[in-house]
Amino acid sequence: MARSSSPPPSARPVGSATRGTTNPNRLRRMDRWIAATHGPQLRRTADPVAVDLGYGAAPWTAVELLDRLRTAHGDTQVVGVEIDPERVAAAKPYERDGLTFLHGGFEVPLPGAPGRSPALIRAANVLRQYDEAEVVAVWARLCARLAPGGLLVEGTCDEIGRRHVWVALGPEGPRTVTFAARLAALSTPSDLAERLPKALIHRNVPGEPVHAFLRDFDRAWAAAAPYGALSARQRWIRSARTLHAAGWPLTDGPHRWRQGEVTIRWDALAPGGTGA
Ligand SMILES: C[S@@+](CC[C@H](N)C(=O)[O-])C[C@H]1O[C@@H](n2cnc3c(N)ncnc32)[C@H](O)[C@@H]1O
Repeated sequence: MARSSSPPPSARPVGSATRGTTNPNRLRRMDRWIAATHGPQLRRTADPVAVDLGYGAAPWTAVELLDRLRTAHGDTQVVGVEIDPERVAAAKPYERDGLTFLHGGFEVPLPGAPGRSPALIRAANVLRQYDEAEVVAVWARLCARLAPGGLLVEGTCDEIGRRHVWVALGPEGPRTVTFAARLAALSTPSDLAERLPKALIHRNVPGEPVHAFLRDFDRAWAAAAPYGALSARQRWIRSARTLHAAGWPLTDGPHRWRQGEVTIRWDALAPGGTGA
């Protein structure tokens, strides 16, 4: 049987406990995107272990991540890592084949052999409660834990997962930002601004790229209003086409736009005051 590599009692987990708010099915949009975009890499990985970092006061998101990733690769294992030991104790009864819960923090402990590294780390609604100045160091620490070809997905959503924004990072650093929404409940794309991840939420001000992007997205959405007579989905797809034609480096296409997503290269939104 695999032995736990949890830190000894003297080694404090890295980070600090925060509010444990979670909800069933809250992270479905993120899970589906991960399964679709990272599934092929998981299938190529000899040790397909995924971490749900900071799963919160109940283990739902880890249980659901396992179910959704197993549609991509039947041998996937999920390890829920929480910095609050009471939340780990509460989750333990939900352990089952492929699902384990461990006490830990940004050092990301894994059960099994020392040196084991995750093919995926998902941190949802965790960094939002840290300072913006901490984000880059946390990202670097988490990226350094990834297996070759691994992915870190870090982002934020509302209580029931209708509005979501996340950053995807490889071992080398940030790659993309994804905006995802239940389109029927969206009045404008910039409604998503309140769910920007910590690295971007304070940058939604004139002069910053993320502000320019959301402004252009709103303009494209307004111009696409006639498509709303067909469906909100058609209006979103039309808006994404307009953004793409205007030079915003979207990395996905109609197949994902139909899901109410738009993904853009990180360097186009990275803070730095180059937005028009
Ligand atoms: C708001 S809850 C999010 C729960 C779940 N991920 C979701 O999105 O529904 C944030 C959780 O992250 C945990 N947390 C904060 N910092 C952490 C760290 N460094 N390592 C592990 N867990 C952490 C908190 O204790 C809290 O339970």
